[in-house]
Amino acid sequence: MKNKKTIITYGTYDMLHVGHMKLLERAKALGDYLIVGVTDENYDRSRGKLNVVESTKKRVKMIESLDFVDKVIVETHKNQKAEDMVKYDVDIFAIGDDWIGAFDYLNEYTHVEYLARTEGISSTKLRKENFDTIKMGIVGIDRDTKSFIYESKFVSNLKINRVYSSDFLTVKNFTKNSDSIKYGHDNYDDFLDTSISAVYINTSLNEHYTLIKKAIEAGKHVLCENPLALNKSELKELLSLAKKEKVLLLSALKTAFLPAFNQLLTELDNGIIGEVKEVRATRTSLYKEKNYSDEFIAQGATNILSSYPSLLVNKILGKSNKITFFDQKDGDYDISNLIISEHKGGTIGVSRVATGVKSEGDAVISGTKGYIYIPAPWWMTQKFEVRFENEHKTQMFNYQFDGCGLRYMIAEFTSLIQRDKRKSKMLTPSDMIRINRVLLEYNDREKEKKNRDTKKGKK
Ligand code: CTP
Repeated sequence: MKNKKTIITYGTYDMLHVGHMKLLERAKALGDYLIVGVTDENYDRSRGKLNVVESTKKRVKMIESLDFVDKVIVETHKNQKAEDMVKYDVDIFAIGDDWIGAFDYLNEYTHVEYLARTEGISSTKLRKENFDTIKMGIVGIDRDTKSFIYESKFVSNLKINRVYSSDFLTVKNFTKNSDSIKYGHDNYDDFLDTSISAVYINTSLNEHYTLIKKAIEAGKHVLCENPLALNKSELKELLSLAKKEKVLLLSALKTAFLPAFNQLLTELDNGIIGEVKEVRATRTSLYKEKNYSDEFIAQGATNILSSYPSLLVNKILGKSNKITFFDQKDGDYDISNLIISEHKGGTIGVSRVATGVKSEGDAVISGTKGYIYIPAPWWMTQKFEVRFENEHKTQMFNYQFDGCGLRYMIAEFTSLIQRDKRKSKMLTPSDMIRINRVLLEYNDREKEKKNRDTKKGKK
């Protein structure tokens, strides 16, 4: 006979409140030993809980400090509950009655008990009351604008209410057909001179620098598609200007904010494949077939696409010491580029980008004990496989996301502003500099080459 009765319960416990405390007390009263599973932030985000403000570490600490809690564990994946029932020989699984029916399947392992929830309080309500609504404006209107607006609806305390484009007719058509956005501007200064506190910029790449600079000077937080600038000094200038004006400047590299991508980095940090020696990633897109304008395509494969492979390479291997380019051109611009970068300890990054060649968009991270395979499109990371010499040891990680993946990035941007933070751990200013170094260096080299050729031509 067991001499103690074990109870288990799970939750996010963001901004710990009286409803949580009462539930935990009631759960403990059912037995002798209370285990609380606190959901991990990547797991929460992967199941659609985007707006949690406190880190896993902080939430665990808060629950650990409660007298009536005996053990705290972290919940990281979908099937963990059933595994925990067996592992901890659980007698009762207790949970609030907002979940009634949802966990009946666990009766196979233990006794499931739904407890009365406390009326009138929730973390969602506290977040709404404690944080101001961020008003955001969109700069540039194109085929992706609607998805951005749609995805932003999943982020609480964010309101997008106006757009800007230099083309009057585009603005007029957009606002006429939009249900939620009624204000349109074709004058950037007027647009910035409104009550918005943040902007999202998605225009042609060569306009980014000027638009960002003006927005920062007007005191707005900026989320902008990468690259933020097309040469080194401009990027550094923008980052220090943002620091000086105390606003947030973030590259809209959506991959960096996906739950699976962050879980991948955690697994690598934990040494799942030993020491990482090489990171290889490919991204290609035949924009011509997608009817993108010639002007867009002429920005070149490196400028349009290299940020994504560079993100993976630099997040894992750190700053690059030397970069070599093997490009192929169509007239003046590159239609493909094989970029090899050398990193700390002689580790190697291999990034392949192309707008005029189609290839498999997957990624492989090779280590001393095994490798990770991310299937195409790897930059929309939803799952990855960890493979070893012994194929029976293969591990699969699955973090399906909803929508097109933008909501995770928008949620992080909004949450940073609300919490008065100016840096994202998922994409720091140093990350942004490292990632952009590739294309900035390529542009600088191309410029030098052109200058040399013109000089030669003159002689
Ligand atoms: N809970 C409760 N009474 C409340 C709020 C939560 O009993 N007013 C219970 C939930 O039923 C669950 C546990 O506390 O068993 C953890 O819930 P969690 O989802 O973390 O809290 P919520 O406040 O419901 O969070 P959110 O608003 O983000 O959904």
